[in-house]
Amino acid sequence: MTFLSVKNISQQYFSHNSYTKALENICFDVSEGQFLSLIGPSGCGKTTLLSIIAGLITPTAGKVLLEGKEMAKEKLQIGYMLQQDYLFPWKTIMENVLLGPHIQKNRDPSLKEKAEQLLEEMGIGQTKNSYPNHLSGGMRQRVSLARTMITDPKLLLLDEPFSALDYQTKLKLENLVASTLKTYKKTSILVTHDIEEAIAMSDTIILLSSNPGKIHSTFTVPEELQNMTPFEARHHTTFPSFFKKVWKEMENLESKAG
Ligand SMILES: Nc1ncnc2c1ncn2[C@@H]1O[C@H](COP(=O)(O)OP(=O)(O)OP(=O)(O)O)[C@@H](O)[C@H]1O
Ligand SMILES: [Mg+2]
Repeated sequence: MTFLSVKNISQQYFSHNSYTKALENICFDVSEGQFLSLIGPSGCGKTTLLSIIAGLITPTAGKVLLEGKEMAKEKLQIGYMLQQDYLFPWKTIMENVLLGPHIQKNRDPSLKEKAEQLLEEMGIGQTKNSYPNHLSGGMRQRVSLARTMITDPKLLLLDEPFSALDYQTKLKLENLVASTLKTYKKTSILVTHDIEEAIAMSDTIILLSSNPGKIHSTFTVPEELQNMTPFEARHHTTFPSFFKKVWKEMENLESKAG
């Protein structure tokens, strides 16, 4: 059975004086453990698509199946990480990580140990009793990742989680996120504006065109790059030629859009 199946998704937004066709007939499958990136121009519907996959928006048409079941019923199986970390400033790092289980009234004592382990693995174990405003942007995104992982979601959705970070922090965090997701064998979908990031992190890249958002092309990242850390991939000899291939398609798409 396909792990995640996105079937004929279309989305239209209506308001009293406007109408936007955000997505048209989007179809793709993601297998378990796969890392997929969505790239495309601003406004092509990437966030809309993630929100539909997360079950937060009911699409105008089509459906999303996780292990054969409709996504609306599977909401708790999804972890969502955003550009902004949305940590609560009045809660400690540990309390922020345990927020999801806390809301679900899950008081399982092993969760605290798991939170400690995740923070430790992310190199920020010493911050567990600190407050978010004492942490750098990169550290806060690590907390955000730990909070996303604590509920052991089947699917991770990452909406530009690195785009607010400086370049060096972003590269370090790419490695950390990729290795964490690999260790825990997570299936992930990343939205990014950055072609290099998409290549470094993913197995598959989907390029969307805009107005309305449609799948323009799908790329399989060369296997040798898939098996490396993002940092190593960026420095591999295959990287520049594959980058050019994706870049060219993106340019074709922009020239068509005029
Ligand atoms: N709640 C909404 N109501 C009306 N229109 C919306 C709504 N959310 C998004 N849109 C429109 O749908 C289209 C897709 O928006 P979306 O935010 O999904 O794009 P995106 O690819 O994530 O953009 P970006 O790269 O800038 O984050 C845009 O034209 C946007 O204006
Ligand atoms: Mg967006």
